[in-house]
Amino acid sequence: MRPTTSNEIRQAFLDYFNEVHHEVVASSPLPQIDNPTLLFTNAGMNQFVDLFLGREKRPYTRAATAQKVMRVQGKHNDLENVGPSPRHHTFFEMMGNFSFGDYFKKEAIDFAWQFVTGVLELEEERLWATIYTDDDESFELWQRYLPAEKILRFGKKDNFWEMGETGPCGPNSEMFFYMGDMATCDPSRLNADDDEEFLEFWNLVFMQFNREKDGSLTPLPKPSVDTGLGLERMVRIMQRTDNNYDTDLFSGVLDKVQELLGDSDEQRQENLVGYRVIADHGRAAAFLIADGVRPSGTGGGYVLRMIIRRAVRFGYSIGFTGPFLAEVAKVYIRQMGEAYPELKLREEHVLRTLTQEEKRFARTLESAMVQLYHIMADLNEKGEKAISGEVAFDLYATHGLPLEITRDVVQERGFTVDEKGYTEAREAHAIASGKGAFGEYSAETGVYGRLLTNLQSTGQLEDGVEYDPYLGAETESEIVGLIRDGKLVDSVKVGDVVEMVTAVSNFYVESGGEVSDTGQILGLGGGAIFRVDDTRQPLNGLVVQVGEVVQGEFKLNQLVRLQVDNVRRSDIRRNHTATHILHQELRDRLGTHVTQAGSLVAPDRLRFDFTHESGVNSETLAEIEGKINDAILANYPVGIEYMGQKEAIGQGAMALFGEKYGDIVRTVQIGYEGERPYSFELCGGLHVAETNDIGLFRFTSEGAVSAGVRRVEAVTGRVARQLIAERLNLLDRLAGQLNVPVSELESRIETLQAEQKAAQKRIEQIQQRMAGMQFDSIMAQTRDVAGVKLLTAQVEGVQVDGLRQMADRFRDNVGSGTAVLATVNNGKPIIIAAVTKDLIPRGIKAGDIVREVAKVVGGGGGGRPDMAQAGGKDAAKLPEALALVPKLIEKAIG
Ligand code: ALA
Repeated sequence: MRPTTSNEIRQAFLDYFNEVHHEVVASSPLPQIDNPTLLFTNAGMNQFVDLFLGREKRPYTRAATAQKVMRVQGKHNDLENVGPSPRHHTFFEMMGNFSFGDYFKKEAIDFAWQFVTGVLELEEERLWATIYTDDDESFELWQRYLPAEKILRFGKKDNFWEMGETGPCGPNSEMFFYMGDMATCDPSRLNADDDEEFLEFWNLVFMQFNREKDGSLTPLPKPSVDTGLGLERMVRIMQRTDNNYDTDLFSGVLDKVQELLGDSDEQRQENLVGYRVIADHGRAAAFLIADGVRPSGTGGGYVLRMIIRRAVRFGYSIGFTGPFLAEVAKVYIRQMGEAYPELKLREEHVLRTLTQEEKRFARTLESAMVQLYHIMADLNEKGEKAISGEVAFDLYATHGLPLEITRDVVQERGFTVDEKGYTEAREAHAIASGKGAFGEYSAETGVYGRLLTNLQSTGQLEDGVEYDPYLGAETESEIVGLIRDGKLVDSVKVGDVVEMVTAVSNFYVESGGEVSDTGQILGLGGGAIFRVDDTRQPLNGLVVQVGEVVQGEFKLNQLVRLQVDNVRRSDIRRNHTATHILHQELRDRLGTHVTQAGSLVAPDRLRFDFTHESGVNSETLAEIEGKINDAILANYPVGIEYMGQKEAIGQGAMALFGEKYGDIVRTVQIGYEGERPYSFELCGGLHVAETNDIGLFRFTSEGAVSAGVRRVEAVTGRVARQLIAERLNLLDRLAGQLNVPVSELESRIETLQAEQKAAQKRIEQIQQRMAGMQFDSIMAQTRDVAGVKLLTAQVEGVQVDGLRQMADRFRDNVGSGTAVLATVNNGKPIIIAAVTKDLIPRGIKAGDIVREVAKVVGGGGGGRPDMAQAGGKDAAKLPEALALVPKLIEKAIG
């Protein structure tokens, strides 16, 4: 079936060439890395330069692509035409087929003719061809399809194609489609600048030479073919419209703009140029951002900034009052996301970057315009029409008004700008200025201050590093600074310990208790690897990744891929969201006096300090833990929303006392209970998308930090699972050791404890019996001292109780007498004295005796007159101590 929509035509091209044995190769990214003279890919053949030059071999010698192309620079610069022109674009899609020393002119012409007449079914009578002046071979070849008078010869300007200052080149042959009235067809109009009826749509380049740096031409190893078919024009031909914009490539966006503005069809027609600039620049900007370009002051970043600002300027002039480019980009992402998956993949980033840059510019646009009008009015009075480079640069430096916009505006009013003077003024400024938006740096800020100042004054990073940990785990950026041993260096190699600064950082910097991200940074297109162990922010505006180069080397300005360790980050996310749930449940259960007094969110655990007077007992803790796990299972969505600080607090968001927040705050809302979020906090950290992602929550400790502040620690997700698995395994092992199922473990342990108690009792009984036996032999040592029966003895292997029992026994058996018994327990002497009641009135008192005796062994004690006990330190002196007793008795009675 004849293809008609843009998506069908693109696909039909690739399918056709695939059928005739071409490898379908993906578009290369827009930023040019290999060719320093080009900012952006400007032709389908860029990615194949080395193949044409014979420097590289691939398994195929024929290829076909749908290539993303930007033409805003040098030899191929279409910027000023965009808007007024019905067929010029900054960004466009170039369909191409290529032969690397495979086929040449004949097949190139045959394939083109076949595709155009066979697949697209274009009317042969409307087709024309042009050839290079002396290319008789092509003339012959074309004559097989076209009458000789429809094959026109042109010179170098039109029919000799070159990539840029250097690179492959050769004569070409172009195909034209006549859109006009056949009756008035005038071939002399073909290739005229202002002609809109003869539409050039396909350029077949017969690559034969390489343009060297010195301008000379050297032949290619083999004649080759490079073709470029502009998709926008082909779609226009197929859809028979008189301009590229009224095709299905752009109509969706133009309708969207009309809808957003609420314009009538007449208003849309009146503001046609603005509509088209927005459609063109919006598309280019979306593709550039998706390819990793970031608005900035230099290089490709400047072009992106300039086209976004140009679109904004036109947007405001046709009635927009706020950001609108994200809406435009959304339409393209829906429409072209299949063919260019990077658009879908980076949708969120594209939309956010556009809106950010629009907002940044909108703040100064109005004052810039007012100033520009004043400048023109002043010049007018003096009868002058030229705006100096200085003035134009000042408009950029103070209001962010790119030269290209100044030029648009003043040209509409018949003025000119000195563009050379502009460049000179810009360069002079870069050298003179040592000071950026973050202020001047003192010696203390050292190398960081110097780096940031450089980045700002050269315009490389006007707003400092774009720190965006919410971007996702992977992003691409370029290296803008390398610090080794405290010094700025241009390159680093394997083994170096380095601080690497990239224009964009998606690595989280420790804050709000959440620890910094780790991960790696890879050199794009080469094996270099930098291991990131830490991420820090030494100065406002500067984020550094700290680590070691583990493979290859890195250079300044190199493109890199930043990869956060996402497994670790997922663990951190779980602990952070769990901390918010914990906070909420503590307040619910313990009371709203509970406030956060400190927090740590690490990958392996979370710690939360909160104000509360008393300890939280284990039952309450278990209850809270149950509630937290209920909230996890409820699978509440976690929403991030930016809002005014007052609004957030007004809606009940929890903020930390004493913490500084900006006017616009980031809020984290978990779930809904009725009208209100289940949890609502101001927070800059990373969170899970839904609470189910946390998996599981388990407390690991509860304790005091200081008066009135408690601390709990807990684990979630993988660590909680591991902890629980370990505990369950332990139970299994214990059950195995005790040879019972786990369910009977508890009763088995109770039985064992009871058995153990009974055994202990029996041991005591036996000991008692043994003590009785021992006592009989000791009783025999009773002697007479001053008419009093006295027993002193040191006994082995008894406890205090045993000693006491012996003393009692002595009293029972002796009738009247005194006993002083001692033993050594755990290396310490214990002494017990017993006195029968009849002796007490005679002056013998157990307490007195024991006190005196204990002194000898370095201790003390006392008790009743009939029974007293003492302890001491020096067991070796027990015999000496006991030897004192007869004297004490004599003294007491005497
Ligand atoms: N490289 C050729 C062009 O861009 C096909 O026109």
